[in-house]
Amino acid sequence: MKKTESYKSYMKSPYVSFKHTTYFDSYDSFFSTYKGKDITFVEIGILDGGSLFMWRDYFGANARIIGVDLNPEAKKWENEGFEIYIGSQSDRDFWREFVVDVGDVDIVLDDGGHTYSQQIITTESLLPHIKDGGLIVIEDTHTSYMQGFGDMDFSFIEYVKEHIDKINLRFGKFENGIAEKRIWSIEVVESMVAFKVNRAATELVSKPIFNIGSGTRAKDFRFEDENALMEVNQIFDKEKPKEEITLQQLESILIDLKFKNPEMANRLKNLLD
Ligand SMILES: C[S@@+](CC[C@H](N)C(=O)[O-])C[C@H]1O[C@@H](n2cnc3c(N)ncnc32)[C@H](O)[C@@H]1O
Repeated sequence: MKKTESYKSYMKSPYVSFKHTTYFDSYDSFFSTYKGKDITFVEIGILDGGSLFMWRDYFGANARIIGVDLNPEAKKWENEGFEIYIGSQSDRDFWREFVVDVGDVDIVLDDGGHTYSQQIITTESLLPHIKDGGLIVIEDTHTSYMQGFGDMDFSFIEYVKEHIDKINLRFGKFENGIAEKRIWSIEVVESMVAFKVNRAATELVSKPIFNIGSGTRAKDFRFEDENALMEVNQIFDKEKPKEEITLQQLESILIDLKFKNPEMANRLKNLLD
């Protein structure tokens, strides 16, 4: 494990905090450009207060460090100069009041309850209030693959996939009102997902463009690679679900077959009878 800047701040914290060794590289990669700046940083999940001190050391004295927790006892950390809000991250009304009070924020780090509904409601509630250039990082996203955190068909990672679709729907040829207009990119690392917000960048419209270089009008071999389909099936490691066929469809196939291949049609009919 590399002893990154966030790791050093973590080790210096006077109060306990539980993390995973892989997290520090990710923290530094997401947050290093904000060090020393006049930013608003919100962490959901305070527990013993250890990470609040870590972030104050990491970002420096100019940063406004805000903690959110459901446990009312966390209010005591206000005595140490942190701003503390008590409420549930799965309560939209709590977030509505929070943003009126706090204003727009630069960074949100969600280390709260880690259920899918908590992670999703937090993202939905705070996305409109992240400043351009800022980000929301949801931590411990491995819970999307674990029992006990919600319905896995609607896990946090499934929600992330929906955002990936919406980012790609920005492509100029799609006329689609659901295209994502806040998140410029999503970075996925082990156990964390970062939504990077940049509204101005999402307004750029992609159009086809050619340079003035010479070309021979070469044939595009896009569909000439016969192995490709088999390969893809192996990569996905699953077969396409079989489509159900109705009796009516079967009858029309049989009629069609009678003209094209009567013998085969007879064999099929016997088989079905
Ligand atoms: C993993 S601990 C936070 C650890 C802390 N960030 C650290 O690194 O030391 C999770 C915290 O989330 C809080 N929590 C759980 N469910 C919550 C919810 N619905 N809303 C807000 N906080 C919640 C818990 O009370 C607990 O303090």
